[in-house]
Amino acid sequence: MSLSTAFGVRMSGIASAVPDRVLTNADLERILDTSDEWIRQRTGIVERRVVDGERESQASLAMRSLRTSLDRAGLKPSDLDLIINCTVTAEMTCPSNACRIAAEIGATPVPAFDLVAACSGFVYGINVGESLVRSGRFRTVGVIGCDLMTQVVDYEDRSVSILFGDAAGSVILRRDPDTQRGCLYQAMGADGRGWHSLYLPRRAREIPPEDADNPIRIGCLRMHGREVYKFAVNKFREVIEDALEKTGLKVDDVSQFVCHQMNVRIIDAAIERIGLPRDRVRINIDRYGNTSAGSVGVVLDELRGDGALREGDIVIIVAFGGGLTWASSVWRL
Ligand code: ACO
Repeated sequence: MSLSTAFGVRMSGIASAVPDRVLTNADLERILDTSDEWIRQRTGIVERRVVDGERESQASLAMRSLRTSLDRAGLKPSDLDLIINCTVTAEMTCPSNACRIAAEIGATPVPAFDLVAACSGFVYGINVGESLVRSGRFRTVGVIGCDLMTQVVDYEDRSVSILFGDAAGSVILRRDPDTQRGCLYQAMGADGRGWHSLYLPRRAREIPPEDADNPIRIGCLRMHGREVYKFAVNKFREVIEDALEKTGLKVDDVSQFVCHQMNVRIIDAAIERIGLPRDRVRINIDRYGNTSAGSVGVVLDELRGDGALREGDIVIIVAFGGGLTWASSVWRL
């Protein structure tokens, strides 16, 4: 597939950041009516990372990752000309955390905004950032995906709290003279009719009638696990098959399938149904849980660290999340 544009885009400075504190299934057994066996079997999760809410914030974790991205790309904060911070767990909606991050790292006065697309956020952010660089309007865009989901789950709700952890991932998208480098194809979608499968209410009046009798804490994530599960299994297959069809690529042409880590059973189902090679689908949910907008960046950074992302490789990135939303991004690195 060839691209007829004036600019190519390089994904550089792949990085991630996770908190030091580990919360194991055994720790959860002590506070919830659950078991290590149930959590492993139903989700594949063994442990997750949790911020210290007194010391760390979405902005601080996101910033840690972005600083590493800049170092790895050999850039200064002032080289950035846009910052996109993908998250559903910013401390405030105004100002955006992106503005505070830009100020803190010394990148002002760059444009900066938060992007809300739940677990699909980072892939939405990469797609938006890539398009802006490819169009020629921007040269160097920092994209961060970071969520502190442990700050918004109710640790009395065993069906939701066991799933989540905190993490950040980031990349620097840069103009490149090779026009064949960058995103070969991207798709983003949303179906708001399914919003009540997964939502974070701020007021009682936002709770839909079907949840009126369920115990739910305001400010905590409410999830209908089976609905989300069904949505994700079907969408997973759809977006990967769409990406392959639209690009004319075959599974064997793709060196890595980088997938949002929501539940190992959802990823396993996709591997089986689409016939993906297991050794090219990185799974790390066992160590981090579902980290929402953070997960794709953490996977990318692990692959980078292992030397599994080489120049010229084709990589397909996919994610699904609240909204309901989904996104894919096919790259030639
Ligand atoms: N420990 C022990 N038992 C539990 C727990 C727990 N932590 N949680 C629920 N159960 C019980 C339930 O009470 C229920 O008991 P019952 O049969 O006596 O009523 C039983 O286990 C089965 O409950 P289900 O909710 O039907 O379990 P299911 O097999 O669907 O697994 C899960 C639940 C893991 C949440 C699954 O539905 C899932 O993974 N869904 C997708 C969730 C997800 O990935 N969300 C994405 C989050 S955000 C994003 O990335 C988009």
